[in-house]
Amino acid sequence: LFPFLFSSRFQLTSSYLDDVSADSSAEFPDRVSMMEVRLQAQEDEITLLKSSLADALRRIRIHDQLLPLLKQQLIAGGWFSPAYWHKELAWTSLVEEPIQPTTIRGLQREDFQDGSCSFLSNSVSSHSFPPCCCLCIPGQSIKMFIRGRPITMYVPSNIQNYEDLKMEPPSERLDLDWVYGYRGRDCRANLYFLPTGEAVYFIACVIVLYHINNRTQRHYRKHTDCVRCLTLHPDKVRVASGQTAGVDKDGKPLQPCVHIWDSTTLVTLQQIGLGAFQRGVGSVAFSFDSGAFLCVIDDSNEHMLSVWDCTKGTKHAEIKSTNEAVFAVEFNPSDSTNIITCGKSHVYFWTLNGGQFTKKQGIFGKYKKPKFIQCFVFSLTGDVLTGDSEGNILTWGKSIMRQTRAHEGSVFTLWTLHGGGLLSGGGKDRKIIRWSADLAPERECEIPEKYGAVRTIADVDEEELLVGTTRNAILRGTFSDGFVAIVQGHVDEMWGLATHPSQNIFFTCGHDRQVCLWNTEEHKLDWYFCDIWQEYGLCADFCPSGSVVSVGLSTGRWMVLDLLTREVVSESTDGNEQLSVMRYSPDGSFLAVGSHDNFIYIYNVTESGRRYIRFGKCNGHSSFITHLDWSKDGKYIMSNSGDYEILYWDIAAGCKLLRNRYESKDREWASYTCVLGFHVMGVWLEGSDGTDINALCRSHDERMVAVADDFCKVHLFQYPCPKPKAPSHKYEGHGSHVTNVCFTHSDSHLLSMGGKDTCILQWKVFGAGDSRERLASASVSSTSTSSPEPVTS
Ligand SMILES: *[C@@H]1O[C@H](CO)[C@@H](O)[C@H](O)[C@H]1NC(C)=O
Ligand SMILES: *[C@@H]1O[C@H](CO)[C@@H](O)[C@H](O)[C@H]1NC(C)=O
Repeated sequence: LFPFLFSSRFQLTSSYLDDVSADSSAEFPDRVSMMEVRLQAQEDEITLLKSSLADALRRIRIHDQLLPLLKQQLIAGGWFSPAYWHKELAWTSLVEEPIQPTTIRGLQREDFQDGSCSFLSNSVSSHSFPPCCCLCIPGQSIKMFIRGRPITMYVPSNIQNYEDLKMEPPSERLDLDWVYGYRGRDCRANLYFLPTGEAVYFIACVIVLYHINNRTQRHYRKHTDCVRCLTLHPDKVRVASGQTAGVDKDGKPLQPCVHIWDSTTLVTLQQIGLGAFQRGVGSVAFSFDSGAFLCVIDDSNEHMLSVWDCTKGTKHAEIKSTNEAVFAVEFNPSDSTNIITCGKSHVYFWTLNGGQFTKKQGIFGKYKKPKFIQCFVFSLTGDVLTGDSEGNILTWGKSIMRQTRAHEGSVFTLWTLHGGGLLSGGGKDRKIIRWSADLAPERECEIPEKYGAVRTIADVDEEELLVGTTRNAILRGTFSDGFVAIVQGHVDEMWGLATHPSQNIFFTCGHDRQVCLWNTEEHKLDWYFCDIWQEYGLCADFCPSGSVVSVGLSTGRWMVLDLLTREVVSESTDGNEQLSVMRYSPDGSFLAVGSHDNFIYIYNVTESGRRYIRFGKCNGHSSFITHLDWSKDGKYIMSNSGDYEILYWDIAAGCKLLRNRYESKDREWASYTCVLGFHVMGVWLEGSDGTDINALCRSHDERMVAVADDFCKVHLFQYPCPKPKAPSHKYEGHGSHVTNVCFTHSDSHLLSMGGKDTCILQWKVFGAGDSRERLASASVSSTSTSSPEPVTS
């Protein structure tokens, strides 16, 4: 819920740096993360203040309402009628408990069955309520604390003995089935073509091996945080990949490292540099003498350049390279004692002798010194060719011998072809140019604007190329036939996710103003729009007939898109704050729109989701709406808010707040996405600050709950899981807070989206009974053989 919490865990370069570099943001990471921490602290404080204020106001309101009633009752001569108290007790339990001065973590349980008055003694009596005897309800309530705020939940009548309930992990498990996306936006040199016919690239914590003809994926999943760089060994089998440090659950930095692994078996051969690198690994390169050595640039301020023995995993030499951003490192193919690095305003030629480095700086002489040296390659004749932010290719012998005008804007990438030719990719003109060995331009083409600029190029064969772009797409094609996208994804943080009620498709929307419709069977983007609206989408839902999808935007506007015609069939605006949830009632006759202005707007829906008429407004939350669900009969709504309230609404009766929450305890819900509720209480960890769970989703068969947490993980719990510390299976892969999860209509798959990692993961759900089938298919399926087994807590 608080996305800024994550930016320290996930360093993304702002888009304005696109033409500059992928890594120049590393210059001020300390200040940025300090500011982020402060911002977070302030924001947390504001949230607390807001909820305290809301509470105070509400108490005043209750007293105002109660006093005349009390008077009446007293005047009427009777004591308080039990019915009256019965009703009010449930209500006051929601609002009358004292705010704890400090965060009380953990859960408390209260039992009213024995008629004890513990509930009253710790809450009501601290206010001006008369100490009274029998204000106890038959039945049970459970109280949970988040940030010292008590959240009371009532035990449904069908649970006879809450105390004896046993929580088991679900018998179902998840298997990573497909990874949507490619991280081209802020990483470079990160796409290679393997002799197996697979393209290898990464997004979030996963390295994808995508067979471009068979359209199957395998996954290398041994990295514990976002992968940042990748290189291919001269044998074209081994791969080295480096990751960011990341932080653990308590914000403690983890150690970044490089993995060397076999791309045919996905077996990790060596883990290099644990404890040696700071913040992350920016670039890696193998030496060309059978790849015995690996050089690494880390993300520390000094950009440490280190050389490692690949087989032993030991450090050979190390030196501070520069305080400026470094973009690339390579060994000289003909001499492994020569290493070149380039980056902001520099190109350095290093010589390694007896474990000592000597450095020579590239002198630009009569040529204008470029702001950035983006990339370089070695020509077959042994010259070094650099590509820079001026759009030039410089040829270096002992000094610069030649300047070749190549692109408008930056030269983002250079790639040598087997025959000695060269490919260059433009960071602004989006051109790919093929050059002869003596740098005469031979062919050129421009990639479509919607894919962004050329980030990196890899050749499939003499003709065919793969192109990674800055808008996170991978294109395949030739100069003659042009290029088509084989991988696409979002390019900015995303929150909106919805699965179709009867087809294997799902819908996503993000801050990048893209709205996308994906096919889970064909693993592809069916269609997408970008930039059609000024504002971005944050939430979405398909109408139950499946013909339209409604999208809630950042300004309070919402749109309804027809899936067939792809046209906007309806639009409306509610309030002027961002919308956080769109939810159709089970029969599709109502749409609920949850907003950050604390209201839920209800619409009558007719004409199969094409016509909307405002029906009413749910007014009563004291903070923004986070989640909501409809009851199975389509008459009621359960909702959660930013200050951890659970409220119930009678929609049919005119969007009336149901003051007695106890009476909603047995209601059945058509969906379960509310993160606060009796049935899902067990998904919360002890010590949770209330923002740890961004989303959850019950499966349609009501057997399991998937949870999207703030620590890059997806969890699978049994449903219901009403007891603290319920066991779950945990799944890794995302590199940022997981913002949403959704089961497909048949519960065959789960989709999860990782906010800033721009990655959508598709998980196959398999039950205990399917395990044999799964084993049989594992060897031929597109599933990774290296998938870590889920951890059961
Ligand atoms: C690709 O498909 C071909 C033909 O079906 C098959 O022989 C080959 O093993 C597949 N390769 C991979 C990596 O899936
Ligand atoms: C909206 O739905 C309610 C409940 O079904 C109905 O009573 C009301 O007439 C509808 N309003 C409109 C404008 O269709």
